Amino acid sequence: MDRTRRLRRTENLRSMVRENHIRVDELIYPVFVIAGKDICKEVSSMPGINQYSLDRLHEELDRVVDAKIKSILLFGIPDHKDEVGSGAYDAHGIVPEAIRYIKSQDKYKDLVVVADVCLCEYTSHGHCGLIKGGEILNDETLPLLAKASVEYAKAGADIIAPSDMMDKRVGAIRKALDEAGYINTPIMSYSAKFASGYYGPFRDAAHSAPGFGDRKTYQMDPANGREAMREVEEDLKEGADLIIAKPAMAYSDIIRDIANNFNVPIVAYNVSGEYSMVKAAAAEGWIDEKKIVMENMISFKRAGAKMVITYHALDVAKWLKEDE
Ligand code: PBG
Ligand code: ZN
Repeated sequence: MDRTRRLRRTENLRSMVRENHIRVDELIYPVFVIAGKDICKEVSSMPGINQYSLDRLHEELDRVVDAKIKSILLFGIPDHKDEVGSGAYDAHGIVPEAIRYIKSQDKYKDLVVVADVCLCEYTSHGHCGLIKGGEILNDETLPLLAKASVEYAKAGADIIAPSDMMDKRVGAIRKALDEAGYINTPIMSYSAKFASGYYGPFRDAAHSAPGFGDRKTYQMDPANGREAMREVEEDLKEGADLIIAKPAMAYSDIIRDIANNFNVPIVAYNVSGEYSMVKAAAAEGWIDEKKIVMENMISFKRAGAKMVITYHALDVAKWLKEDE
């Protein structure tokens, strides 16, 4: 008779047969940089996550480097928004300035800086593309995303991560990067990005909630799994190097399907709402935060992700070290 408990008897035995692990080098930590001076402001719906002005960014980066985290995902919050999101592709905008600062400091310059590319933090209407007559324009938005990508690459970004969900943007960005001489700058595409309620707290953090309507005409319908494979296939064809699936917890079937169908590193984005739910329940004493977070991390790996973007990254790094 088979007795599966035989291999669970001791921790050493369990660790020998353990199938999945999460390592600190697989973590990507989101960082919010805000225009202005002397700002370190906690996001009310995301306890432990702050917006930093450039002059105080070192406080956060020190924690990242000390935790031996290798990569950050940069989001910018500008002081000025307009109809066309010009802050997103301004050579002296908040993100290029932040990247130049990071790359100028010996202590931080080896961090793999992933620059999120989108317009929603920079547009007065809060949508991820240009607007005409209440419609979100696709092809007219592409040159702006491409221009932002080139500005971030010029500033020193290591990876470009378009999150807008316009069709054909990976191809447009790849072409623009190549023409500007950045043939070695990889694209991490938010390919399977669903129109999700789980982004709510992020929109507080990035001041990017749409002023009217929703994002359902460009982000994916949560009911569609097969369609996500088409998105991934298209992005790979257009030149994506890495594929993001997002959110992660409620969509681990999507991660698994991508892993089964495509030979590309997958990044699970453990999004803001997923973070906030865990933090709120933990603060109430209803769940064991460390246990739950580590279980979620392993679930992403088990589903087939290679890397994880998570607001828990500093804690995960600390817990991994404790348990070494
Ligand atoms: C911007 C962007 C969003 C997220 C990443 N990039 C928000 C959105 O699409 O509304 C969500 C991240 C999170 O919830 O943690 N396009
Ligand atoms: Zn956006």
